[in-house]
Amino acid sequence: MRKFCFLFFTMSSFLLSVPMSAQQQGFVHETSSEYTAPEDPAVIEKLEQWRDLKFGVLIHWGLYSVPGIVESWSICSEDVDWIRRRDDMSYDEYKQWYWGLKDIFNPVDFDPEAWAEMIAGAGARYAIFTSKHHDGFCMFDTDETDFSIASGPFGENEKADVLKHVLNAFRHNGIMPGVYFSKPDWHCPYYWDPHYATPDRHVNYVIDRHPESWQKYSEYTKRQINELTTRYGDIDILWLDGGWVAAPDEDIDMDGIVAMARRNQPGLITVDRTVRGKNENYLTPERSIPKTQLPYPWESCITMTNDWGWVPDAQYKSSAKIISLLSEVVAKGGCLLLGIGPDAKGVFEDKVADTMAEIGRWLDVNGEAIYGAGVLEHYNDGLVWFTSSEDGKKVYAIQTVDDATGEIPASVNWSGNLPSGKMKLLQTGKKVGYKIEGNRVTVKLPSGVNRKEPLVFVYEL
Ligand code: GLC
Repeated sequence: MRKFCFLFFTMSSFLLSVPMSAQQQGFVHETSSEYTAPEDPAVIEKLEQWRDLKFGVLIHWGLYSVPGIVESWSICSEDVDWIRRRDDMSYDEYKQWYWGLKDIFNPVDFDPEAWAEMIAGAGARYAIFTSKHHDGFCMFDTDETDFSIASGPFGENEKADVLKHVLNAFRHNGIMPGVYFSKPDWHCPYYWDPHYATPDRHVNYVIDRHPESWQKYSEYTKRQINELTTRYGDIDILWLDGGWVAAPDEDIDMDGIVAMARRNQPGLITVDRTVRGKNENYLTPERSIPKTQLPYPWESCITMTNDWGWVPDAQYKSSAKIISLLSEVVAKGGCLLLGIGPDAKGVFEDKVADTMAEIGRWLDVNGEAIYGAGVLEHYNDGLVWFTSSEDGKKVYAIQTVDDATGEIPASVNWSGNLPSGKMKLLQTGKKVGYKIEGNRVTVKLPSGVNRKEPLVFVYEL
C-alpha cells in the first residue's frame, strides 16, 4: 500500500497541474519526465528516510536579497516579463551595480539558530540553503573566489561563513540539511567570459573553440562542490539547480562530481534537477503539483510568496493554503519544499514567522496524517485528500480549504474510502458522527469547529 517500488521507471508524460496562480513569477524549470532509480544502497536508504519527512523548506538568500529583487535573473539579458531591471541604467551599468551589492551586503542580524527554530517550529523536517545562486555569489567561505559573503563587509563577523552556521543550526534542531548549488555561475569568467556579451543564461563562448576555459569551469565547479561536501559536516541532500548545464551541450562531468561528492558524503541524495538520469534522485516539479500520484520520489517546490527570495510588499499564501498544498502533495506520494527568504539583514519578515508558526501548530496536532504517511489508491475527492498510516490500517481524510473562500465547506463529505467503524476528528481526538448514503459519507461537524483551517478525520476502512 505504502511505497512505490524504485525500479527503473519511465513515464512518457509527466502531468502537471496548471500553474498555481496567474501572478506566478520567475523562470519555471521543466520537470523531468523520467526517473532512474539509484543503485547505491546507502542512497536508497537515505531517499526512503527523506520521503517520510514530507515537509521541507528552501531558503534563498544572496545579493538579490539586498535590494529585494528576483533572485539572480536580472543580470541575465533574456527579454522576458519576469526579469525586471532598473530602467535608469544600461544593461552594462546594471550589471556593475548588481555586482557591487557585495560591498554593502552586511547581514548583521543573521541569527541561524532563530531561523532553524522557526523552521523546526513549522514542522519542517528538512531544509535546503542556497550556497550559491546563478549570480555566482557564494554564501560560504570558498577558496575559489572572493565573490562571497565571507570577503565583503560581513567578512569579519564570526558568522561570516554563513553556510556553516546555517547547516549547524539545522542539524542542531533536528532538521535534515541540504545544500542548493547553482551549476551555472554568471560571475565566473570561465562561464561568462568578460570578452563576450551575455545574451542569455548559457555559457557565453563556444566550448569547442575554448575547451581550456570549459575545462577550467568544470574543475572550478568540482572544487567548489568538494569544498561543500568536505568542510560543512554531514549533508544529506545536494540540490543542483540550472539544469541547462548538462551533457551534451554544457558537460561538466556530473558523474565524476557526484562520485566525488558521495565519497565525501556516503549516501548523499543528489538532485541534478531536470537533467534526468542517475544523478537526479528525485524529481522537482516547480511551483506546481503533479496531476496524479507518481511512482517515484518527487518534491514540489513552491514559494510562500510569489518569489523565492525576500521582496518588499510580497503577497503571502495563507497557512491554510500551504497546509492544503502539503496535504495534496502527501496524498500523491511527494514532499513539499516551501520557499522562503530572509532580507538583507538576515531577518525573516514577521509574516513568514507567523505563517510558519501556524503551520507548525497544525502539524503538531495533525502530523500523523502527514509524516511517514502512506498513499491510497483512491487519494482524492474534491477538496478532500486521503493518506494512510504507515501500516495502511488507518485512513486520514484531510478536508482542505477552498481557495475562493479560504475556508473548508460547510458540509464535509466525500465519496469512496468509506469508514466502517468510528471516526474521530484528529485535532480533538473525539468521535464525530457521520452518515453513509451509497458511496458517499457525510460528516457531522462538531459545533464551533474552526473552518478556516484543514480538518483531519481518522478512521478504518
Ligand atoms: C527556478 C529559478 C531559480 C530558483 C529555483 C528554485 O529554477 O529559476 O532561480 O532558484 O527555481 O526552485
